[in-house]
Amino acid sequence: NGTGTAVTGAGTSHDSRTAEGENAQTLTTRQGHPLTNNQNIRTVGNRGAATLENYAFIEKISHFDRERIPERVVHARGAGAHGVFEAYGRVGDEPIAKYTRAKLFQEKGKQTPVFVRFSTVGHGGHSPETLRDPRGFAVKFYTEDGNWDLVGNNLKVFFIRDAMKFPDLIHSQKPDPVTNRQSGERIFDFICNTPEAMHMVSFLFSPWGIPANYRQMQGSGVNTYKWVNAQGDAVLVKYHWEPLQGIKNLTAHEAEAIQAKNFNHATQDLFEHIAKGEFPEWELRVQIMSDDEHPELDFDPLDDTKIWPEDQFPHLPVGKMTLNRNPENYFAEVEQSAFGTGVLVDGLDFSDDKMLQGRTFSYSDTQRYRVGTNYLQLPINAPKKHVATNQRDGQMTYHVDSAPNQNLHINYEPSSLNGLKEAPRSAPDHMPEYKGRLMKQTIDRQNNFKQAGERYRLHEDWERDDLINNMVGALADADRRVSDKMVELCTNCDPDWGRRLAEGLEQARGGKTAEGGNQYNEARGSEAVAEAEAT
Ligand code: HEM
Repeated sequence: NGTGTAVTGAGTSHDSRTAEGENAQTLTTRQGHPLTNNQNIRTVGNRGAATLENYAFIEKISHFDRERIPERVVHARGAGAHGVFEAYGRVGDEPIAKYTRAKLFQEKGKQTPVFVRFSTVGHGGHSPETLRDPRGFAVKFYTEDGNWDLVGNNLKVFFIRDAMKFPDLIHSQKPDPVTNRQSGERIFDFICNTPEAMHMVSFLFSPWGIPANYRQMQGSGVNTYKWVNAQGDAVLVKYHWEPLQGIKNLTAHEAEAIQAKNFNHATQDLFEHIAKGEFPEWELRVQIMSDDEHPELDFDPLDDTKIWPEDQFPHLPVGKMTLNRNPENYFAEVEQSAFGTGVLVDGLDFSDDKMLQGRTFSYSDTQRYRVGTNYLQLPINAPKKHVATNQRDGQMTYHVDSAPNQNLHINYEPSSLNGLKEAPRSAPDHMPEYKGRLMKQTIDRQNNFKQAGERYRLHEDWERDDLINNMVGALADADRRVSDKMVELCTNCDPDWGRRLAEGLEQARGGKTAEGGNQYNEARGSEAVAEAEAT
């Protein structure tokens, strides 16, 4: 049943024939041969030598040798669950059809199955879940029109606004290529030269950078998308998930206390709540803006380092998601799941957000490498509806995505010989008009510090204290060129932020250790000891 600890082996695609003397529990090889001896390889005498035709052994060990696939280059550590999305049929007080024709949203009470994967970003597959990091919040909706993936994070903004910078951003946060350790100096070296990251820093180095678990955190699409209605008219939208369990974040000290005993606490928390029937729920809310440049705003609506102010662009509820079933096999369902920002259904569209455009190439590209060419044939990724294509072959082809009466000789289109036909167009396409010069330039309305300063002032006292401590902890050992620049950027956001960071750094360098958040510079203690011994 997947929700309890006892999981049964339902759902395999094999038939249930057994040979004489076998029953359904009989161990076999992957070729179906009954395995009479699973303890010993075949040898000359019981001390060896072994023979090379040990098929059952070689099949078993060579499968084992291939049990790992490349982990995700980012978001490698994750946990997943199945559930359902239920539409409200409205967006706030208005019928949703005014803005989008996407079928999953139209009727009140309409249910769409979903699969969600939560994750941390920077570290490897079994890294502690207590680390300071954005949290991934990726949702796959198996709609009647095919899959829709909403690939978001817990925080509502991002470090950068141009996809060109993503590999550099991630390299600065991954372990140092020489020492193989994450370093505050490298992270802030990139950030102090990337002022648009300050809004993200204002969240990430506060307790918002360590959600207490996956159930009690928000989600956000971060990038700007479009909704398209039956007339082909579009609006800009941003998506937000609000946890009905409330929000809970951790200070660095609280996280360290958990990590000392358990580095899987978020995976455990999600699995156990679902197993107990305490299903976590999130309301999906959207912000809507007309589809233009909005010169009246002091930021660009397509800039993902900005929040759309809630008083001008209210969060309008459109439905609710409930996670109610644990995976039966982590690898098959969670590790091999593949989400991408290009995976949209009719009525949903891309905006010109440059990050979104770059992301959209990256996801399916990495998945063809990470999981394989036919990753969309795996049950977790396959749409739960009719799929018929002319794509064939490639590694691990599992079946042909064909129509029941299709002439299987015809894997091309157009054809007069009973091949597949294009789908009829049910509504006009959204066809935005473009006129402009091709160029490589950053956007005009950068306004890098205003919202970051507002966030600094909106934090509660304990959150601001934690933010300062964590930045001091990460920067105390950094090169002065990096830490001085960070003080300058924080001052640009709010003079109090800059002053407190400068004071904290001075104290820390004067020998007084920062109170918390020193997770990047753990060797600082041993270096200090070595220095003391040397003098
Ligand atoms: C995962 C690229 C920005 C959220 C990934 C993966 C890549 C990638 C290559 C691994 C996918 C896989 O192996 O299946 C990029 C690029 C970005 C970008 C190139 C910017 C240009 C963002 C942003 C967000 C985000 C802004 C948040 C809105 C996620 C999530 C996952 C992910 C949640 C994990 C999905 C899962 O659970 O499988 N990203 N990313 N990414 N990314 Fe991004």
